[in-house]
Amino acid sequence: MDGRDLMRSVRMIGSARGLRALRHAWRGRRVDAWALPVRGVERARMPGLALDARALPGGGVVRFARSELRILVAAGGAVFWGWDGAGPEPSYALAGLCPDPDGRVVLEPDTGGGWRVVSERVTVAVSRHGGIEVRTPGGVVLRRELPPRWWEGVPRGGAGGPEEVVVHRWVQRAEVGADARFFGLGGRSGGPRLRDGTYRLWNTDPGGRFGPGDDPLYLTMPVQFVVADAGTHLAFYDNSWDGQVVLREGEEGGGSGHDRAGCSEVRMTGGPLRCWVVVGTPARVLHGWTALTGRPALPPSWALGPQHARWGFGSAAEVRRVVAGYRERGLPLAAVHLDIDHYDRHRVFTVDREAFPDLPGLARELREGGVRLVSIVDPAVRAETGNAVYDSGVAAGAFVKDARGREVRGEVWPGECVFPDFTDPGVRAWWGEWYAERLAQGFSGVWHDMNEPVVFSPFGDATLPRSARHALEGRGGDHREAHNVYALEMARAGYEGLRRLRPQERPFLFSRSGWAGMQRYGGTWSGDVSSGWPGLRASLSLVLGLGLCGVPYAGPDVGGFDGRPDEELYLRWFQLGAYLPLFRTHSAIDAGRREPWEFGPRVLEAARVALVERERLGPYFMTLAHLARLTGAPYVRPVWWGAPGDRALRDCEDAFLLGDALLVAPVLEPGADQRAVRLPRGRWYDTVTGEAHEGPGQVLVDAPGVGGMGGAGGARIAVLARAGAVIPVRGEGGELVLEVWAPAVGRTGSGLLVRDVGEGWGEPRVERFTSRVREGRVGVEREGGGEVGVPVRVRGL
Ligand code: GLC
Repeated sequence: MDGRDLMRSVRMIGSARGLRALRHAWRGRRVDAWALPVRGVERARMPGLALDARALPGGGVVRFARSELRILVAAGGAVFWGWDGAGPEPSYALAGLCPDPDGRVVLEPDTGGGWRVVSERVTVAVSRHGGIEVRTPGGVVLRRELPPRWWEGVPRGGAGGPEEVVVHRWVQRAEVGADARFFGLGGRSGGPRLRDGTYRLWNTDPGGRFGPGDDPLYLTMPVQFVVADAGTHLAFYDNSWDGQVVLREGEEGGGSGHDRAGCSEVRMTGGPLRCWVVVGTPARVLHGWTALTGRPALPPSWALGPQHARWGFGSAAEVRRVVAGYRERGLPLAAVHLDIDHYDRHRVFTVDREAFPDLPGLARELREGGVRLVSIVDPAVRAETGNAVYDSGVAAGAFVKDARGREVRGEVWPGECVFPDFTDPGVRAWWGEWYAERLAQGFSGVWHDMNEPVVFSPFGDATLPRSARHALEGRGGDHREAHNVYALEMARAGYEGLRRLRPQERPFLFSRSGWAGMQRYGGTWSGDVSSGWPGLRASLSLVLGLGLCGVPYAGPDVGGFDGRPDEELYLRWFQLGAYLPLFRTHSAIDAGRREPWEFGPRVLEAARVALVERERLGPYFMTLAHLARLTGAPYVRPVWWGAPGDRALRDCEDAFLLGDALLVAPVLEPGADQRAVRLPRGRWYDTVTGEAHEGPGQVLVDAPGVGGMGGAGGARIAVLARAGAVIPVRGEGGELVLEVWAPAVGRTGSGLLVRDVGEGWGEPRVERFTSRVREGRVGVEREGGGEVGVPVRVRGL
């Protein structure tokens, strides 16, 4: 029992809930001990020497003395390899079937008795001992995988099948450039640059709140995004089992020739050893990655507006009061989220009719005022006859069972619960139908929570027992394999359900937990980020890291989940949140309020400025959402996005690019009224003062806080616009306007516009514009000719 366990058990002891949780935890442990096979004598295995190779479309198979390696270059350029006969399918990450092989690829002998697969953009060289190098066409090594090692044996006992040799675990080490930086691994609080350390791959609720030191969190995935002088690549070990990644950044010997490579060591407790690698510029990498795992779902346009939530809006009257508070103060608001307290005794797909006597009526009324309702949806179903969801789930055989065929039960908000097996297509279909109840209540979107999945437990892993059985699409298996994809498949169930029920509308869904491919169904949010300056920093780290894993729509609980931020912290969080895709204030039931007027008149005015600016940037956010769907490029990008070779930018973690046009430098520490901002190459304008700064380099920009209000522009963070940028914004009368930031003399600039296609599925048109200075005047042209057709507003001259 570690310290965290002890705290948990102390908190739980004494309550009826605590006793039930204790009983379930013990039962889970007992059943695991009975059902999971016991490892017998283990033997280590390595591939041995290469014997021969045979070509196959897209690559081939190299046979080793004690394994076999399949290599495949897919048509889009992504590289796959799998050991021990592992192929790309079945996979929860892939959006569909494995893409076609690239027919032009050749397999040929390499020096030293190895083999290589040569394609247009990448060469994969396999050494005689089973090392794998990914090289650029110029021969520069981006990643070197050392020969893997498996530990295997004949397990004893357990409820599993016949006793045969099975792999218990494997380890795969890889080297990258001495200058390389690691990013990704899903949502990590201590990033975005992942420093030396151990990162676990097991979706976990940290238990009420987290800060930068807490790992793992809710949404992990074995995706590494690696940036080095030699190039950028993404490596994905397609395996959903419990594992860990140990990262060590390299060190350069300063010309002495004694560089130490950067190193990644992936250890998995089961499952296949297979890997995808995508190489190219950052934009190309994410394009390739989302071609494989699915393009990000396009949120409805209202979901790009400001949203407000709270655990503990006690009644319809309170919701009305809060919404009126926004309206009376002229603050824009797009959606209000209802948490578990609007349920009848916390039961999913129910409504507390005393507190919310006419939810559809409330939803209609709010909608007329331009405010949508979003509902929390938890996977745990109260196990009680008479609970309609439980009864229908029992009839459908929907709930996870243990190895003896009994329902797996655990304690969650509603009491004793059961858990749908989302890895069963029939169960997904059944669950998806329940969203009809949410739609009938007037909700416009869903917020998936507690889906790691969480089971309250005074000790150990607060989730289902590892031996719990899952369908895994008919293959059968247990929670060790299903755990990390549980939320991903819940998202699929919800998304597909909503699409069936409301085919004419794009679903709005975001989920606390998930896995590789999550973006196909929706976005995510920080979860219970702790209210404090470190939590604010973690908020940005999560959004940036997830974007590099292909999940672009995310944001934090603005203000932090727990406690009560002071004026300054709340405002700084609010100012950051206004530039993140999901912009939502939220807090716990016992935490302070998060409405902007709760922090005094100065904060209210500054928050209003942030809200109004978010509204003004609406068309730009919509454009970025479309571009994310079309290309995989996240809205929020690291500042090195366009220049991954710039090492100073690579180490900059406290600012980001919003699309191509804006550089946002939030204030992440108390007491600051200026921000040092590291600029990429080119001219950048302070969007408030219009002052021009030349990059690359570092500049100081004013960012007055609440104390500094009354100065030019009031409290704000530093936001810079790239010279030449053409940004679609909302004009004062709500009309579309192109804001153009003057290009430097002799240079041109550009920008894209993708208009809102309404609620539905209309195919968007990408409109391209070029800006240039002619005879001292800034002009905008539509690419391909024709009228610009949109009013232009020039800035920065
Ligand atoms: C979890 C969620 C949080 C929510 C709470 C109650 O802690 O992360 O956002 O408010 O549960 O449903």
